[in-house]
Amino acid sequence: VALTGAGVSTESGIPDFRSPTGMWAEFDPLEYATMGAFRRDPAKVWRFYAPRFSMLTDAEPNAAHAALAELERRGLLRAVVTQNIDLLHERAGSRDFVEVHGSIRSSTCPGCGAGYPLAEVLPLIEAGGGAPSCPSCGGILKPDVVFFDELLPPEAIDRAYELASEARLMLVVGSSLEVWPVAELPLVTLRAGGKVAVVNRGPTAVDDRAHVKLDGSAGEVLQAAVASLEADDDRSR
Ligand code: APR
Repeated sequence: VALTGAGVSTESGIPDFRSPTGMWAEFDPLEYATMGAFRRDPAKVWRFYAPRFSMLTDAEPNAAHAALAELERRGLLRAVVTQNIDLLHERAGSRDFVEVHGSIRSSTCPGCGAGYPLAEVLPLIEAGGGAPSCPSCGGILKPDVVFFDELLPPEAIDRAYELASEARLMLVVGSSLEVWPVAELPLVTLRAGGKVAVVNRGPTAVDDRAHVKLDGSAGEVLQAAVASLEADDDRSR
């Protein structure tokens, strides 16, 4: 099972959160990524999210996303559990993925509960001058991403725990593992007798318990792993 974070998408041009050039170096998450902030000033929260929506929709999957989809095609990877909201694993061809922090796939109206797919939200953002209004009741839509003071989607986090408990290996890619409950998933794998491998630039919270830690570019390391599998295939032919 792979567990990915923002570091798997930086090579697609999407900044991560906690590295020196990350989003939280520029924006205070408590001001922009909480339900409290959204209720207080939804237009302000959308001033943070609207540019991200267009950046995420313009981004392309990178070599790391492609390598994970290849590992799944080879039957070596069961699923990707991702903290990312950018839809890039799906666009890279991954079939079994769990979006534990939600995604930009849809937005919901807190007023009347109506849901809208991304394709409808983008023009509503434009029409709303940066904050999309609900076509049926006029309320400002909320992106279906998990804010810091929100519960994770139960079916997603339950599946993530199940995958972690059954994994022989959890491959952590591009996450500092500083946010709970996701940070516990590698520990669930270890407690169940599995191993953890980390591909991450810089330290993660699970490095000291990882069987393997590769400090480098997710795209380069994962593509090299796939290439070594192809080399094995050639030798065994
Ligand atoms: N290759 C490998 N590692 C990378 C790369 C790369 N190309 N780019 C960045 N990294 C590493 C960074 O050094 C950092 O350690 O990826 C890690 C990303 O960590 P964070 O920025 O903390 O992102 P993430 O772990 O996904 O954050 C978890 O926090 O803000 C919330 O909801 C948000 O889902 C997010 C959650």
